[in-house]
This record gives sequence, C-alpha cells and structure tokens, in this order.
Amino acid sequence: MFVAIADALVAAIKAGRLSAGSRLPGTRSLAATLGVHRNTVVAAYAELTAQGWVYGSQARGTFVTTAPILADAAPAGTTSATRARFRVAGDDAVRTAARPLETDGSTPQSREHPALILSGGIPDLRHVPRAALARAYRRALLSRKEVLDYGDARGVLRLREALAAMLRATRGMPCSSEDVIVTRGSQQGLALAARVLVRPGDTIAVEELGYPPAWQIFRREGATLLPIPVDKSGVDVDALADTLKRRRVRAVYLTPHHQYPTLATLSGPRRRQLLALCQRHGVAIVEDDYDHEFHYASRPVLPLAAADPGQVIYIGTLSKIVAPGIRLGYIVAPRDVLRTMAAERMLLDRQGDAAVETAVAELFEDGEIQRHARRMRRLYVARRDALVRLLRTRFAEAVEFDVPDGGMSLWVQLRGRRSAERIAAHAARQGIWVGPGRYFSLAGHALPYLRIGYAGWSERAVAHAVKSLGL
Ligand SMILES: Cc1ncc(COP(=O)(O)O)c(C=O)c1O
Repeated sequence: MFVAIADALVAAIKAGRLSAGSRLPGTRSLAATLGVHRNTVVAAYAELTAQGWVYGSQARGTFVTTAPILADAAPAGTTSATRARFRVAGDDAVRTAARPLETDGSTPQSREHPALILSGGIPDLRHVPRAALARAYRRALLSRKEVLDYGDARGVLRLREALAAMLRATRGMPCSSEDVIVTRGSQQGLALAARVLVRPGDTIAVEELGYPPAWQIFRREGATLLPIPVDKSGVDVDALADTLKRRRVRAVYLTPHHQYPTLATLSGPRRRQLLALCQRHGVAIVEDDYDHEFHYASRPVLPLAAADPGQVIYIGTLSKIVAPGIRLGYIVAPRDVLRTMAAERMLLDRQGDAAVETAVAELFEDGEIQRHARRMRRLYVARRDALVRLLRTRFAEAVEFDVPDGGMSLWVQLRGRRSAERIAAHAARQGIWVGPGRYFSLAGHALPYLRIGYAGWSERAVAHAVKSLGL
C-alpha cells in the first residue's frame, strides 16, 4: 500500500500538481483522508525521501525537492530497450498526438538519413556559414574559459545583447538584453511558456490548423485546447471574440507572421483587433515567430510583441536562419514572466551551451548571420517562384494555392477527390516527406492539402521530388 501512495505522489510531482518546495500533507491528515494507518503514510514518505523526491521530517514537515536524486537514474546495465514498468505522466498526451511516421508531416526523427524532407521549414544546410561558426566556436572555447563554467540560466549576455539589437533593428521590438532568454530552440521556449502559463484545466486557444509539437507541450501541462478557425487573413479574430464571451481562456498560441501551416499573414486590422481583445480579457498571446527572416514582400510585418510587449510571450528561433541542430531560440516576455521562466529553466537543464552561444553572438556582431539571412532570402524566394512555376505549368489541373508573402513552403490544395495521406504515403515510400493536411489539424481531419517545403533543397531536387508525388 505504501508503494501505491508513493507512486501516486511521484506522479503528482512529475505532472506539476505538486511543485518544487510545496509541502506534503501531514502524515496524520493524509492517513485519515486515505483511510490507512499512519505508519503506511510514514513508510511512503520514507520511500520518497530515499528516492530523493522529498525532504524534511515528521516534525518540520515534508517538502518536494527540486529534482529527484535517484528515482530516474538508470541502473547500471540497463539498455535503451528497457521498458518502464510504471506510468509516466504525460504519456497519453504524447501518444494521442503522435502520428505514424509514414504519413507524418513533421521531421522523421527516427531516420538517420532521410532522402528528401519537403515537409516544411528545413533550411538549406549546405549554405550554413560553418567555417565561420567553427572559428568562432574555437575562439570562444580557447579564449574564454568562463564558457566552461556554470553561467546565467538566461543565456550568455553577449548573445542576449546581439539578439535584442537584432530584434530592435529588424522587428521594431523595444527590448534590451534584460528582456531576452536564450533557449534550446523554440521548442524549449514553448515548453517554458506552457510551464509558466498553464495550470491543469486551463484553456488555451490555438489555430485549428497549427503546429502539433506546441499543442503537445500545452496538453502536457494539463491544458484543454480550443481550436480557432484560420483563413486567408490568418486566425479568425471574430471567432476568438465569440469564444471569449462564453469561455475563460488563459492564452492564445499563434503563428501570426506566416501562419503554420497555411502561411497566411495576419492582416493589420485583425492584429489591432486581436491585441485589443486580449487586453480586454486578460488573455496572454504566445507568438511563435519561427521564420520571421523569410518574408519576401517589400513591406515588413512587425510582430505583435512590437505593438504590445506587455501582452505577449514572443518566441523566436535560429533553427531557420542558422540551423536546427545548434538548438538556439529565444523568448522575449515581460520581466516578471521571464524571471519565472529563468527559474524553470534552471530546473530543466540549468543553462545552454555557453561556447555555442558565444560563437553565435560573435557571428551576429560581425554581421555574418545578417549576410547569411540576406543570401538565403534571395535563394529561397527564387526557389519559391520556381516551385510556383512548376506547379502552375505542370500540375495546374491537380492543385491550387496562393503564393505566400513569406515562409519556406507552399500550402497546396488538391483538386478533385485526391487523398493527401495517400500521396504522402506514396512519397514516403520513395524517401520523400511531404506534410499531409491531417497532420496539421487539431481535430485530426483528413484535409485535401499538402505542405510542400522548397527551401532546403535545390530547385532541381525539389522539382524532381514534386514530379514523383503523382499529383
Ligand atoms: C511553428 C514552428 N515553431 C517553431 C519551430 C522551430 O522549432 P525549433 O526552434 O525548436 O527548432 C518550427 C520549425 O519547424 C515551426 O514550424
């Protein structure tokens, strides 16, 4: 019995229902609540103490520690094939959101060398300024031994300064290094945002077509997701307004710049309406600006965070502009929120890789990343136009689409009664990955759409792949 009580408490700690530092009920009162002998609860607490989940004493009280010492340590000799004999909090959310790889629009994580990923936002890694990055990394490592030390959980100051300067200059965001946390990619940014925003049972409004890895993170914190329709002007703010009349919503997660996956840019009037609406209802906006750099229309569109920094948790990434493998992203948010995020980050992985952060800061200071972004913008817009030409000349009967103002992919509607899943599965058998509509649908609806990325590969390679889709 004491094992069952201990297991239940571990599950509550893992799910965040019992947070670090919180006090467990006294042994007498918990025993009374559960209808068990007090010694059973004492034994359960002793077990949790031994595993490192809690500390304290019967006299002073028992408190949840910040990290388990033993519980998750793998015993010597365990192999990766060992299966857990216990239930892990969050399992269900992850499992239900996962899709089979064959029809999955996301990156095929289980393949070492996929042939051709056209699922969306992968940059052309052949052009990454690797030599400059390697030199800067070497310099950081050899000349600054502090990069080997414990450091600021918010990231290396130099990189926070460089990012703030970039955000001020190119996105009109009124921020300084104090307003920025460096993360391991947007995914960690989203995890931190969800962590500080969501309490179990909260509602988070999301675009009904959107980014499943973000949904999974919100669900894992116990959120209920509420879909808001999207159209050619981005998320439907009138629909959100209607929802807010009936329901309390904690936050809205959006991709306003290039809506994921449709690529629609949120129109000016809707931006103003959205900000006013969220202010009125006290709804936080989580703005995922994952490929801001790749906007090809002459007029720049500024983030929502530029207009109202107090309402927005802004998340950006260097995955597109440099490379996904360096795992660098950033958050800009109100300072009280950032402080909580920094404390959470401390618990999660303490800090980032200071040598990489220093190296990338140097590339920003030298203008290397800005030059790279300009080169890639020219290259990607040419690739977009080439794919548009190909689809219009060769496949006009089979597909229709709008030409987006930015992004790294097209959102293509299939004419007739073609199944996007079938096409994606057929492509996957040839080692080509395209995103079928269903992957992006919160409700899991089969939609006659494909998301076809064009940025990561040469025009010829993309053309060859698209011709083999059997459109
Ligand atoms: C909507 C969205 N957000 C964020 C990201 C970037 O993720 P990360 O920075 O974790 O590599 C992507 C990349 O595909 C994306 O499509």
